[in-house]
Parts: sequence; structure tokens; C-alpha cells
Amino acid sequence: MTLILGIESSCDETACAVVRDGREILSSIVSSQINVHTLYGGVVPEVASRIHVENISAVIDEALKQADVSLDEIDAIAYTQGPGLIGSLHVGVQAAKTLALISGKPLLPVHHLTGHIYANAFVDELEFPLLALVISGGHTELVWMKNDWDFEVIGETCDDAIGEAYDKAARVLGLGYPGGPVMDRMGRQGKPHYQLPVPKTAGAYDFSFSGLKTAVLQLVQREERSGREIIPEDVAYAFQETALKSLVDKTCAAVDAYQPAMLVLAGGVAANSRLREMMTERMQDKKQTKLIIPPLKYCTDNAAMIGATGYIAWKHKAFGSWTDSADPGLEMPHAE
Ligand code: KG4
Ligand code: ZN
Repeated sequence: MTLILGIESSCDETACAVVRDGREILSSIVSSQINVHTLYGGVVPEVASRIHVENISAVIDEALKQADVSLDEIDAIAYTQGPGLIGSLHVGVQAAKTLALISGKPLLPVHHLTGHIYANAFVDELEFPLLALVISGGHTELVWMKNDWDFEVIGETCDDAIGEAYDKAARVLGLGYPGGPVMDRMGRQGKPHYQLPVPKTAGAYDFSFSGLKTAVLQLVQREERSGREIIPEDVAYAFQETALKSLVDKTCAAVDAYQPAMLVLAGGVAANSRLREMMTERMQDKKQTKLIIPPLKYCTDNAAMIGATGYIAWKHKAFGSWTDSADPGLEMPHAE
């Protein structure tokens, strides 16, 4: 049995978890700062790192307490090394190093996006080759995993991440931060009414969302100029149908070309109810590929996914060292 303590602090959640053998969550504590950042309409990096400092010790204590284990019983300390906000990452890195120092346990630096991918291990044992659609506030990537612990980016966004586009479109509609969950709810109540342009990219598996975000802004301005009342539910509907269709089309094209054993969704936008529905429907006739979608609370940032990934890092002996630091531009491990 291997117990990994995971720490996550890359953006605006301070989180710690204890995970057994990569798949069993003994505890998962997430302290969200969303209420504070909502006041500013987005994450304020300096505020985020300060709140991480205030909360991290209590979050770690609570994770150990709920798992009913002592630091001595933990085999290794996994932490998010990057990508993310540098000041926020530093807090998790220092906490992990401190725990490793006092306990004598090894460190396992984890790439945040690999964490989102391995969150799917809480649903089913991962099978390879695997294709992951990673959709978060900062990233939109199709990641090909020929084998475990080997990540190759085969497609990515040319401009904004999908989560960023959700947040910006929501801001235009005055819906607050984060925009994803409320656009998800509103879009379900909307009707086909407005037309938005379909995103175009040169690469078969690349994405683009900045044009869509601008189109939402122009649509709202046009309606205001003409004195017509804007129907936010219908704008959210149009945004979701257009953005998500592009995601699903490109992902399904990659599934057809690569024929993976598994397709997994990963990251905050994987919590989107319409995307979960569209993907499930479109994957129904692709019998060679099993679709896995993480439970809602393991789509958005958490530390259980970092513990799960830490277990894979442990198996691959991908230990860190004292000289490692937070790395906002960290790349995923890839065997050439
Ligand atoms: O993975 P995550 O928690 O943090 C990052 O690593 O970025 O993703 C946060 C993003 C935000 O942009 C948020 O608006 C979006 O995920 N999100 C959603 C939903 N829930 C969260 N987007 C669409 N629909 C949702 N239900
Ligand atoms: Zn994330």
C-alpha cells in the first residue's frame, strides 16, 4: 500500500489530499477563494498567494486528520510544480518541501494538467493508448498518451483557453466570476436565437476561442445599439453550442484518427453538463474507445488528483529534489 499526500495551490484553491494506491481518496480538502476573487471579477494573483499562505497549514492538518493518518505513515509528498500563478505555486512548493524535510519523505513534483488527467483514475483504471481532452481556465489541449506517464500534446488552443472564453463571455453578460458554472445553467434555459461564428483553425486538432468571445461582445453591443433587450439565456445557449461543438468535433476527429482505448475529459470545463451530454452522445458509436468523465468535484482544482498523479510519479521514480522550484511554464513528461 502506498499513501501519497497531495498539495495543490496553482490558482485560487488551496487543497490537500491523501490518496491510497493512486485510486482511493482517504481525504480531499479544498479551500476555495472564489468568494474573494468574485469581488474583483477574476483572480487577483497577489491576493491568491496571500490567502494560500493563510490557509495551507490548516488544510494540510485537516487532510491528515480526515484520512486518519500521521505524516509518518505517508510514503511521499506530491505537489503541483506548475503551470499556474507563480506566487500561488510557491506556497504549495514551500509547504511540500517543509513536510518532506521534517518527515524525511521524498518529494514528487506534479504537472497540474497531468493531475487533471489522472483524476479519471478515480472512475476507472486507465487504459492506454489514451486521449485526454484537457479543458481548464488556462489550457485547452488534446493530449495523446501512448503509455502511462507519457504525454504528447497533439492539439491546443491558438489563443484563449475555453474556460477563459467562458469567463470573459460571462463578464460581458454581467454574470460574475467564475463564468463557467452560471453559463452552463443559463445555457440550458436558452433557445436557438442568436448566431455566433464557428471557430476556425489551420491545425486539425487545434482550437480557437478568442473570436467567439469577441463575437459575444459585438452581439451584446449591437443589440444594445438597436434598443433590443438582450436575452442572456439565449446568448449563453449560442455560446455553449458553438464552443462545445468545436471541442467535440475536433476531439472526435482525433479519436477516429488515433483510435485510443480510452478518451478522458479533464479540467474545470469538463464539469459542464452540456459538454458531458454531447460527448456521451457522440462517443456512443465509437465502440473501440471507452469514454471516462471525472465526477464533478474532481473536474475543478483539487489535491486528490495531485495525489493520484503523485502515485504514478512514484511508480516511475520521478522524484523531485530540494533545488526544484515553482515553474509556471512546466512541460508534461514526454518520452521522445
Ligand atoms: O481546472 P480549473 O478548476 O482551474 C484551472 O486549472 O484553470 O478550471 C477553471 C475553469 C474556469 O474557467 C471555470 O469557469 C470553468 O473551469 N468551469 C466551467 C464549469 N465549471 C467550471 N466551465 C463551463 N461549465 C462549467 N460547469
Ligand atoms: Zn486546473
